Amino acid sequence: MALDTKLEYATPAVAEQSDLQELAKRHLWMHFTRMGSYEDHELPIITRGEGCYVYDEHGKRYLDGLSALFCVNAGHGRTEIGEAAAAQVKDLGFFTNWSYAHPRAIELAARVASLAPGDLNRVFFTSGGSEAVESALKLARNFHRVRGEGTRIKVIARDTAYHGTSLGALSATGIQSIRTQFEPLTPGGCHVANTNSYRAPAGRDPLWAADEIERRIEFEGAESVSAVILEPVQNSGGCFTPPEGYFQRVREICDRHGVLLISDEVICSWGRLGHYFGAQRFGYQPDMITTAKGLTSAYAAMGAVIVSDAVAEPFMHDTSMFAHGFTFGGHPVAAAMALANLDIFEREDLCGHVLAKEGEFRAMLDSLRDLPIVGDVRGAGFFQAIELVKDQDTKESFDDRESEQLLRGFLSGELYKRGLICRADDRGDPVIQFSPPLIADTEQFEEIEAILRPVLTEAYERIVRR
Ligand SMILES: Cc1ncc(COP(=O)(O)O)c(C=O)c1O
Repeated sequence: MALDTKLEYATPAVAEQSDLQELAKRHLWMHFTRMGSYEDHELPIITRGEGCYVYDEHGKRYLDGLSALFCVNAGHGRTEIGEAAAAQVKDLGFFTNWSYAHPRAIELAARVASLAPGDLNRVFFTSGGSEAVESALKLARNFHRVRGEGTRIKVIARDTAYHGTSLGALSATGIQSIRTQFEPLTPGGCHVANTNSYRAPAGRDPLWAADEIERRIEFEGAESVSAVILEPVQNSGGCFTPPEGYFQRVREICDRHGVLLISDEVICSWGRLGHYFGAQRFGYQPDMITTAKGLTSAYAAMGAVIVSDAVAEPFMHDTSMFAHGFTFGGHPVAAAMALANLDIFEREDLCGHVLAKEGEFRAMLDSLRDLPIVGDVRGAGFFQAIELVKDQDTKESFDDRESEQLLRGFLSGELYKRGLICRADDRGDPVIQFSPPLIADTEQFEEIEAILRPVLTEAYERIVRR
């Protein structure tokens, strides 16, 4: 009977390995995944993690060079985070932050505020990054409206940047291929140049990209612009770092035009760049920070918008409120896990470790520049990318067909087969990205190199010299 079959499948934790493949292919809708590509291929099923490593259903070990998805910052297998969850469940499994509070959300808000730069003292919890961005964009509009500037609805973001998938966040996302099929999006998303300087014309003002933001604000009319949203280091396109003074210039521009500056740190906070927040690394003061992922080292689904006193102020008196929320915002179990995660950060000085080791990590990646397919190496902290090219001298990139062949036809599968999880991505020009757990050290850097070097050598032979 169909019902019995369902019941039999109701405990996948004890399913046979082969059943997991079958069940996944039949029932699991994977995100951003070409499901058809697994029709005649085995799906990678990861069952266990320890430190910088994860294991698949066959017991094979992989170096997790991506912290799963830029998020398991403290590394895998931190049982104390689970113990904090269990202790919290005993006290209070759930209560809401709608009109009520509970100790863990309060403690976490205070702790996040104490670590955040300047007067970012007010924390609005969400269940992830897209919800954080969505909330920040709504808060920016609402802030202007309560101050009598309801025409300020537009948001300025950068080309190729990823800010999430809900329709508001997607209007800030600057990747055409994931936008068009969902149009019309929330109105108001405007895009300007990012800080990719790999092919910048000689002699261009290094702060050109910052000034592009001002030009766009003036073009749109400042009275229509609500916020500028930028990542400290832009992920999509391959770890674009800001030139010296970029964020200071952007801050000045935002202040001049009454526009809020949102630092989208869903990836770049919690030690990824060697500081609790990316804004601290580059020395600027945003009006809001959006965060998620590493807040709990991804052991629980949690994000936050961290808001300045000035932006929060209009919502703190009398009958005013920010009419926005999510059932799970500030979930007590997630908050307890975040607190345990931050205890690990503090005890092991994970930010200090990243700062001490990023030079060594980067030197290893730079050492691959002798391979003809390595065009650029860029990034900050434990967040680095290699841009792949056909020709180092001319910086010629791959066309769409070649890129498909290079990344999906060879590199992704081959690196995984050899035991390295990283990201081969062509939302911009083709890159491979690395974002290992913040505990990674010399042994893991050497292991990454030992796998990358022969694979990149073979990629060049197959795709360029063939
Ligand atoms: C900068 C940035 N913003 C927003 C998001 C969306 O976060 P989530 O996938 O948790 O919704 C991401 C996800 O990677 C991100 O990198």
